[in-house]
Amino acid sequence: MADAHCNLADTDCDCGRRGDRLLFFLTTIHVHISIKQPMKRFTVRKSPVHGRGVFALRPLRAGEILVEYKGKRIRWRQAVRAHLAEGVSGHTFFFGLSDGKVIDGAQGGNSARWLNHACDANCEAFEVDGRVYIEVARDVGRGEELFIDYGLQVDDPADEATRDEYACCCGASKCRGTMIAAD
Ligand SMILES: C[S@@+](CC[C@H](N)C(=O)[O-])C[C@H]1O[C@@H](n2cnc3c(N)ncnc32)[C@H](O)[C@@H]1O
Ligand SMILES: [Zn+2]
Repeated sequence: MADAHCNLADTDCDCGRRGDRLLFFLTTIHVHISIKQPMKRFTVRKSPVHGRGVFALRPLRAGEILVEYKGKRIRWRQAVRAHLAEGVSGHTFFFGLSDGKVIDGAQGGNSARWLNHACDANCEAFEVDGRVYIEVARDVGRGEELFIDYGLQVDDPADEATRDEYACCCGASKCRGTMIAAD
């Protein structure tokens, strides 16, 4: 039967059980944390393609949903204005939505904003109810860099200066030389 006079808040009790109970309590917290914490699936570090990139920390299976592309929702015109005012040529954290708005990963964004582009990408983005998710498109090994095909939409995709501005360095044999959408 439990010793009714003894509990953790009872600082005057000298029965010796307070320490045992505290230890049990801390052990329980530790077990709880180790069980609840899922293994990290990816990390952000320097990329050989460009700046920072996202890398798999363990093998990933096709179909796994990796992360949501987060950020502030702004209007397209606002995005263009911000890019002209303070953007770096050819560099963007914008993700276009089907309703014409844009997710700006630079404002309130998460690690998805570091995903680089590849013409033969191993991940793809899809939109549901105005939210964008990144899904693994084919099995990926531990340590591989994760890419999406940006398929950038620009006013004049055939314009050489624009294509140069968004030149692709993915190095794939199928590289189309630009991050602009194929068609
Ligand atoms: C969303 S950021 C990706 C993170 C970027 N690596 C960084 O460190 O800022 C998108 C920008 O990264 C660069 N980038 C991504 N993929 C690229 C590629 N395959 N070739 C050249 N530049 C790329 C372009 O400047 C692009 O506008
Ligand atoms: Zn490429």
